[in-house]
Amino acid sequence: MDERALPFLHHWYTSSSAPGGAGTAPGSPSGALPVPTLTTARLVLRDWRDDDLPAFRALNADAEVMRFFPSPLSADESDAMAGRVRAHLSREGFGFWAVSPAGSTEFLGMVGLLRVPFVAAFTPAVEVGWRLQQSAWGQGFATEAARAAVAFGFTALGLRELVSFTVPANEPSRRVMTKLGFHRDEAGDFLHPRLPEGHPLQRHVLYRLSYEAWAAGRKVP
Ligand SMILES: CC(C)(COP(=O)(O)OP(=O)(O)OC[C@H]1O[C@@H](n2cnc3c(N)ncnc32)[C@H](O)[C@@H]1OP(=O)(O)O)[C@@H](O)C(=O)NCCC(=O)NCCS
Repeated sequence: MDERALPFLHHWYTSSSAPGGAGTAPGSPSGALPVPTLTTARLVLRDWRDDDLPAFRALNADAEVMRFFPSPLSADESDAMAGRVRAHLSREGFGFWAVSPAGSTEFLGMVGLLRVPFVAAFTPAVEVGWRLQQSAWGQGFATEAARAAVAFGFTALGLRELVSFTVPANEPSRRVMTKLGFHRDEAGDFLHPRLPEGHPLQRHVLYRLSYEAWAAGRKVP
């Protein structure tokens, strides 16, 4: 696949032209916001460090990690994406956090919240997403990290709803959505507007989680 024909895909995260508006978190029109750190039982969701970039390059170069995207990323593309992710975090005060094991700075991947940077029937919206290195899969890490990000969205950011979406074949990701309490919006399937007409990955399934449903499903300590 000719990656040069698909520049959109590597820019769909954290586009500076991401729409805001009703239902999204308050942004910062100027100046950087502090990047909060979220902790879970086993993980830390933190601001990025410059020395995360080599591990992020390896993550994005892994064909298995990227099997539901048009292609793996080159080192330059990965660095550019990291720049956009970090800019979103400091601009908005939320974004795709770098994920490490508790007590370590090892880079396992990224998990977090993003303003959906394209227009679709369900936008404006904030989405939750994840990308972890293979060695971290199968231990519940994506769900654990995303649960903290979702809670941050519904409490600190005061969001009323979160969305998540992926290609139909991405069963692990869909399973994470379900475990987080998201439900599939059967009428919400959409063709990703940043993929060309007819692209095999164009069709996406949409999942939603309202604040009310999230609050009702929370375990009271
Ligand atoms: C999606 C991803 C983050 C999941 O990470 P993870 O830490 O392994 O996720 P979790 O362990 O929290 O949950 C994964 C769930 O998917 C299930 N699963 C894994 N492979 C599956 C498959 N082929 N079919 C069905 N379910 C599957 C797991 O069993 C687990 O569910 P369970 O807890 O009920 O057993 C990881 O696979 C990844 O980084 N993938 C590549 C990037 C990507 O696709 N990102 C999402 C783009 S929308």
